[in-house]
Amino acid sequence: MALLKIARMGHPVLSRPADPVTDPTDPAIAMLAENMMETMLDAPGVGLAAPQVHVPLRVVVYYVPEGRTTDEEDHGVDLTALVNPVLTPLDDEMGMGREACLSLPGMSGLVPRYKRIGLKALDPFGNIIEREASGFHARVLQHECDHLDGILYPMRMEDLSSFGYTEEQVHHETEEPETAGEDDAATDRRRL
Ligand code: NI
Repeated sequence: MALLKIARMGHPVLSRPADPVTDPTDPAIAMLAENMMETMLDAPGVGLAAPQVHVPLRVVVYYVPEGRTTDEEDHGVDLTALVNPVLTPLDDEMGMGREACLSLPGMSGLVPRYKRIGLKALDPFGNIIEREASGFHARVLQHECDHLDGILYPMRMEDLSSFGYTEEQVHHETEEPETAGEDDAATDRRRL
């Protein structure tokens, strides 16, 4: 196991689409996923995509802590590695929530995301993973899979006035705008 160096916004590996993994059961992929999990937990964060550790492959690791849930369908998710994940929105409903990212240390902003999505992926042992995700779980998956397409969360923001340094935002905490409350994520800045 090893801690990996995290690329920050501006590094070209974060802005190019990542390549599909041709052999998901290659032991090198399992090793990459293990090192990504260690790096994510050390950071600490709840999600990490391979381009964030300078590896341009479609691999994501994430988990959803119990208690970090936003609705009844949303629940904790164990540490999971996804290879070649594909997301499909289950309907058109969007929600706003605050996001932060290990590649933009110290910053956060309000980002619109689909509330409910379907996930299909493989794990590093070749098993098929199929999940339906809502709330914070759906948000984490969309944030991480965006990394695989070279998209960082500020590129999804509709109003950059909520983008800024988390320290300043917490220090000068005011109520989030009404429209932002849906995900109840206003005070949560776990990094993805
Ligand atoms: Ni991120």
